[in-house]
Amino acid sequence: MKVAAAKPDLEKWRRRVREARLLRPTGKVVRVIGLTVEVRGIAARIGEICHVHVPGESPVVAEVVGFREDVTLLMPLGELRGIYPGCTVVPQGRGLEVAVGDHLLGRVLDGLGRPMDNGGAAAETAPPGVHFVPVDRPPPNPLSRQRISEVFATGIKAIDAFLTCGRGQRLGVFAGSGVGKSTLLGMVARYAGADLNVIALVGERGREVRDFIEGDLGEEGLARSVVVAATSDQPALVRLKAAFVASAIAEYFRDRGRHVLLLMDSVTRFAMAQREVGLAIGEPPATRGYTPSVFALLPRLLERAGTGPQGSITAFYTVLVEGDDLNEPITDAVRGILDGHIVLSRDLAAKNHYPAIDVLQSVSRLMPEITGAEHQAQAARLRDLLATYRQAEDLINVGAYARGSNPQIDAAVDAYPRIMGFLRQHMREKSTFEETMAAFFSL
Ligand SMILES: Nc1ncnc2c1ncn2[C@@H]1O[C@H](COP(=O)(O)OP(=O)(O)OP(=O)(O)O)[C@@H](O)[C@H]1O
Ligand SMILES: [Mg+2]
Repeated sequence: MKVAAAKPDLEKWRRRVREARLLRPTGKVVRVIGLTVEVRGIAARIGEICHVHVPGESPVVAEVVGFREDVTLLMPLGELRGIYPGCTVVPQGRGLEVAVGDHLLGRVLDGLGRPMDNGGAAAETAPPGVHFVPVDRPPPNPLSRQRISEVFATGIKAIDAFLTCGRGQRLGVFAGSGVGKSTLLGMVARYAGADLNVIALVGERGREVRDFIEGDLGEEGLARSVVVAATSDQPALVRLKAAFVASAIAEYFRDRGRHVLLLMDSVTRFAMAQREVGLAIGEPPATRGYTPSVFALLPRLLERAGTGPQGSITAFYTVLVEGDDLNEPITDAVRGILDGHIVLSRDLAAKNHYPAIDVLQSVSRLMPEITGAEHQAQAARLRDLLATYRQAEDLINVGAYARGSNPQIDAAVDAYPRIMGFLRQHMREKSTFEETMAAFFSL
C-alpha cells in the first residue's frame, strides 16, 4: 500500500524536474511553408514538443516531425497565428503527454486529451495526484500478453453468433460511406460488456460528434465512456494525436486490470492525417498518394490494443472502404494487422437490412479458440445455407429455379428468411449473449 501511495508523488516530482526552467538551447524560426515551421539552432528529437514564443501571447505548441539539411521541421498542435521569422523556439525535452485517471469517465476530450465539455476547465486543473503518461508508447511485449480465451459479448446478434469476439481481440469494421459503421459502433458502445469505453472520433464531421455522443451513446453510455474527438477541421497532427491519446488512455485503464473497449472511428481518417503530415515534410507518395510512413504507423497504432500482462483492450476500428473496393490500400493493410474483420454491405443496407453485416465476407480469427464445438458446427451449417442461397440467388429471383431439383438449395431457400430475420437487429434493441445463443440454436 505504501508503495502505491508514494507513486503519484514521485510522478509529481519527476514532472517538476522535467518542467523546471533549466538552461535549454533555444532556436529561431527561419521559415514557414504550408503547415511546417523550419527552425534553426535547436537539437530536438522526433516527437519532441517545442514552444514557439510569440510576444504577448501564449506559446504555440509544436512537435518535431522531421529534419532537412540544417533545419528542424515542426508542425503545430494548434494555430500558427502570430508566428514570424525570428520567433524563439524552446524544446521541452519530452513528447506529448496526457493526464489520465478515473476523473476522465464521462468526459469529452479534444485531440490532445484536454477536456472540451463544460464539466471542467483545462487539463491543468486535473485533480491532484493525477498521472501523466506519454501519448506515444510501444505496444506491450508479445510474450507478456495473456492469451485470449474469454468471449467478449457485444450485444449484437450477428457478431456474437457468427463472428464471436474474444476479450482483447481487435476487429475492423469495413464499409463504404453511409452503410452504418458509426451506428454499429454506437450499438457496441451501449450494449457490450466492458468495464468502460474509450471512444476516438478521428477526422469526423463536427455534427457527427454531438450526434454520436447524444444520439448513439446517450447519457448512460457516456457515464462509462471517455470520448476523444478531433474533427476534420483540426490540424492533421491533432487528428493523428487523437488516435494515440485514446490508445494511451485505454492502456492506462488496461494496465490497472480493467477490461476496456476501445472504439475508433475512423482509421482511414487517421491514415489520411498521416498522409498530410508525410507529404508536408517531403515524403514521396506511394500507393494512392499514401506515403510509406502511413503503412509504418498503422501497426504502431493497432498493435497497442489487445491484452497486456493484466486487463484487456478489445478494439473496434472502422475503415472507410473507398468506392466499396475491399482491395483499397488502407483496407488491405488494416485487415492484415487485425484479428478479424466485419464487412458491411451496401446491398444489405439498400434492402433495409440492418446492421448490414455480410456474414459470409466477415471473419473473427479467434472464434475457433473461444467457442465450443457445438457453436462452431451450428455457425458452419448456417453459413453453408447462406452460401448456397447466395450462389443460387439470381436463379431464385428470376424464378428459374424449380423446387425439388436440388435438395441443398431447397433447404437453403427454406432457411434463408429465418436466418436473415435473426441477423436483423434494431439499433435500440439489445440482445444478451444468452438470448442470442437461444435464438441461434433454434434456427
Ligand atoms: N442499425 C440501423 N438501423 C437503422 N438504420 C441504420 C442502422 N445503421 C445505419 N442506419 C442508417 O444508415 C445511415 C448511415 O449510417 P452511419 O452514419 O452509421 O454510416 P457510416 O458508415 O458511419 O457513414 P460515414 O461513412 O458517412 O461515416 C444512418 O443515418 C441510418 O439512417
Ligand atoms: Mg460514420
